[in-house]
Amino acid sequence: MSFKFTEENIIRINELITHYPEKRPAVMGVLYIAQEQNGWISYEVMKEVAEILDMLEEEVLGITTFYTMYHNKPVGKFHIQVCTNVSCMLKGGYKIYDHVKEKLGIENGGLTNDNMFSLEEVECMGSCGTAPMIAVNEDYFENLDLNQIDQILESLKNK
Ligand code: FES
Repeated sequence: MSFKFTEENIIRINELITHYPEKRPAVMGVLYIAQEQNGWISYEVMKEVAEILDMLEEEVLGITTFYTMYHNKPVGKFHIQVCTNVSCMLKGGYKIYDHVKEKLGIENGGLTNDNMFSLEEVECMGSCGTAPMIAVNEDYFENLDLNQIDQILESLKNK
């Protein structure tokens, strides 16, 4: 299935490109807009981004696979990223990760049957000083314990 940006997003992309001397450096922002529109970066999305920015598909692929903020497969309404890198690990990151897995009944990269939640174990998200932490979509939740995880998941179920 092909992918085309909405007219509104084409305007945003054209504006974004004006901030750079050439199109290519706008790729991170364009991918962000693409993910906002499509929910994830499919092959068709990547192809369209590459075409708009005069890049090779492989170059765009390299970026989408390197940065964890880009999803390379469909994610849930709430995409939960649990950091298990050093600072978070030392403060119980794996306990949190295992707890979320058990609560949602999914493994790393999994999606719940109702498409509400997806889970991803990630490297440092730059919030080490307030470890352990998770991100739900773009919101960070920090200094967590298991009770707070339960509260967060419960509140998301009701959204
Ligand atoms: S180690 Fe988890 S945010 Fe840095």
